[in-house]
Amino acid sequence: MPGVVETSRLAGDGRRLCVVGAGYVGLTAAACFAHLGHDVTCVECDADRLAVLQSGGIPIHEPGLAELVAAGRAAGRLRFTEDVGSALVGAAVAFLCVGTPPQPTGEPDLSFLADAARSLARTASSDLVVVVKSTVPPGSCEALELICAEEAGPGVHIKVASSPEFLRESRAVEDFLSPDRVVVGAEDPDVARLVADLYPAGPRVVLCDRRGAELAKYAANTFLAIKISFANEVAQLCDALGTEAGPVLASVGADHRVGPEFLRPGPGYGGSCLPKDVAGFIALGEVAGTRTTLAAAAEAQNTHARRSVAHRLELVLGGLPGRRVGVLGLAFKEGTDDTRDSPGVQIVHDLVAAGAEVAAYDPLATPDLPPGTRSPSVADTVAGADAVVVAVASEEYRSLDPASTATQMAGRVVFDAVGVLDLDRWAAAGLSVYGVGRGVPLAFYPVVWTPLRWTTAGRTVAAAGAADK
Ligand SMILES: NC(=O)c1ccc[n+]([C@@H]2O[C@H](COP(=O)([O-])OP(=O)(O)OC[C@H]3O[C@@H](n4cnc5c(N)ncnc54)[C@H](O)[C@@H]3O)[C@@H](O)[C@H]2O)c1
Repeated sequence: MPGVVETSRLAGDGRRLCVVGAGYVGLTAAACFAHLGHDVTCVECDADRLAVLQSGGIPIHEPGLAELVAAGRAAGRLRFTEDVGSALVGAAVAFLCVGTPPQPTGEPDLSFLADAARSLARTASSDLVVVVKSTVPPGSCEALELICAEEAGPGVHIKVASSPEFLRESRAVEDFLSPDRVVVGAEDPDVARLVADLYPAGPRVVLCDRRGAELAKYAANTFLAIKISFANEVAQLCDALGTEAGPVLASVGADHRVGPEFLRPGPGYGGSCLPKDVAGFIALGEVAGTRTTLAAAAEAQNTHARRSVAHRLELVLGGLPGRRVGVLGLAFKEGTDDTRDSPGVQIVHDLVAAGAEVAAYDPLATPDLPPGTRSPSVADTVAGADAVVVAVASEEYRSLDPASTATQMAGRVVFDAVGVLDLDRWAAAGLSVYGVGRGVPLAFYPVVWTPLRWTTAGRTVAAAGAADK
């Protein structure tokens, strides 16, 4: 499609681009492409989101994104519309960044993607390259290309390429502008070059076929999930053995073949991507007839990690009915307002289901919560609490003053599910701090503690030193 390439060029190096979907991925891509000199029209079908965008705001919290959107608009290189037709004027490339939420089977719901592709194809009046940034199972780009061929007008040729997005929420702008890698999947080398050239220069570009690019995203997220679940598995062992997981996992991560990232124990992974993509990876294995035992184990370990926070609090408090528990942090991680599949929200529901009275706070996130559980501030959350749970590793909670927290609380129990509190400082304030892999006090495991044993040449020695046969 060389002709298309030429007509879409602007005076500088930029191109006219259409981006469909103004969520975490689409809005970041649109603003960053505008920042890189492209002329971008972003299509959003949600009337509320669009109204916010058209009035100069942004509908999500993402550091640096509001400034980039404002700069793009001021430069005349970024605009928002619900009208696909106007967004496609002069554009030879359209990015699909719509949601692919999980279905009960684990497979993603691709209907938003199919609808968006149909609408692009029906509207396009000249050749178009559609680039799928949404996370989709292998074979999706091929299927979308068939859908586009059915819908496109006479003489309009649409090619579909894959370029999955790897950005992290709360660092979306940084990740988009300085990615570890850009993956482009296209069988046609001209299309691959066209897409790769749109991105910032510098990062490693991985070129492959479409199925490979689509699978790369699932494989990357599943590997990260396995790492997190492994860290939780080690942390559980550490708790049972009465030692801290920090040094153990630091030793593992110091090996350059492993790396330290994603080796922090906690209340399990959440968010809109990891749980969905692990489930998608397992579903892919089922469809393809291959074994995905590691992914399934990561998922099972994650479910356990998430549910164990309320369970362990129940053990420490000797029951939850009537106990007042403050939960700090409802977003799925620090620095974001996203609460999709959030461990903090799950903890609130688990505690309420077990009979606790919950006060839950987050400075950015506003998820649906059980009635009467939302708290307006940290102070209101800890006031009169029998126990406080820290569920997001934010600076706000890290810098809490233990002494004043202790005076506000009714009880003495703090459960630091994300490992941000300084145990010695909090213990000095008279509080009992529990956590995941923090060398939990023995009393935590009144029943499950077993003596350590090691065996040599047929002789077994108990940890206390007594030898037995
Ligand atoms: N959120 C992340 O951190 C992240 C990172 C990498 C990849 N992804 C993947 O990217 C995709 C999008 O994720 P997201 O978090 O940005 O989703 P999102 O739900 O935040 O945003 C999707 C947006 O698309 C809009 N939309 C849906 N159909 C549309 C249509 N036909 N026309 C115009 N707008 C339409 C929705 O209204 C919504 O605003 C998913 O497949 C996700 O798995 C997400």
